Amino acid sequence: MGAKVSVSELGYIGIDTANVDGWTNFLKEVTGMEVSDKDEDGKVYFRMDERQYRFILQPSDHDDAAYFGLLVQNEDELDAIASQVEEAGITVTPGTAEDIEARHALGLIKFRDPSGFPLEVYYGAARARTPYHPTRASSGFKAENMGLGHGVIHYPGIREGVKFYRDVLGFRISDVGGVGAFMHCNPRHHSLAMFEMRPGMTTRMNHFMVQYNELDDVGLAFDVAQQRGDKFQTLIGRHPNDQNISFYIFNPSGWHTECAWGARNVDDTVWQSETYETPRDNLASMGWNHFRHAEFEAGLVVRGTHPGQGR
Ligand SMILES: [Fe+2]
Repeated sequence: MGAKVSVSELGYIGIDTANVDGWTNFLKEVTGMEVSDKDEDGKVYFRMDERQYRFILQPSDHDDAAYFGLLVQNEDELDAIASQVEEAGITVTPGTAEDIEARHALGLIKFRDPSGFPLEVYYGAARARTPYHPTRASSGFKAENMGLGHGVIHYPGIREGVKFYRDVLGFRISDVGGVGAFMHCNPRHHSLAMFEMRPGMTTRMNHFMVQYNELDDVGLAFDVAQQRGDKFQTLIGRHPNDQNISFYIFNPSGWHTECAWGARNVDDTVWQSETYETPRDNLASMGWNHFRHAEFEAGLVVRGTHPGQGR
């Protein structure tokens, strides 16, 4: 058990959307990210740090994640990961010259996880020639070698999903149980999480999280979203697991984006999985925890309900 070579970060997310313009404005105005490139085919690239890009918006007739890009160190590791995936019985497609150019990488492979979710593993991430320049005043993001933040997907059969990401791609378990499975591949508490996919869920994507350097940026993003008239999925709260202070907002695709600050890191030499108590009967006993916005507005205060629970 255990992968010989491990991916080291969630390096990029491709997003299929019928509303590239809406997404472009959303990422610029609410998150403060910078457009770094546009392709003739309509793709829009966003950056958040010294990397050339972190998010790729792709014009599509549907709205969901198009792929997650997972980084490895070099060509040898890419070859090793390709072998590990194939040994798991999954077909690996080498990236074409066009794929590699489009991702500004040195090499990549494509495949689907056992549930069919599209993944890419790449090496040689491009550094931008210019410093990151946020669209709005911002302290910037905690990213770099910890990746873009985290991605959370709906997965049919989490236990099987955990085995694949752990044994084949080298993720380590942060916490499994409760609302889902949380896995890390660097000091970020989770770069990838899975919530059980249930009937009625229409996308594989639940949310991605971006983490600011300063708490003020969470507040600023909240204010901008409010001024724009965006719909909040939750108000501001603090997660007990990664300890991020964050809120969730409906992005132009209708799934969620989490704007966060203040996470703790995982040290693999001492980390032990935990469970998290969330008393529901005493608001004062556990601080604050992501009130569901719609219920808050309706005067029904329900706390401690993670978006992954689908409520
Ligand atoms: Fe999250």
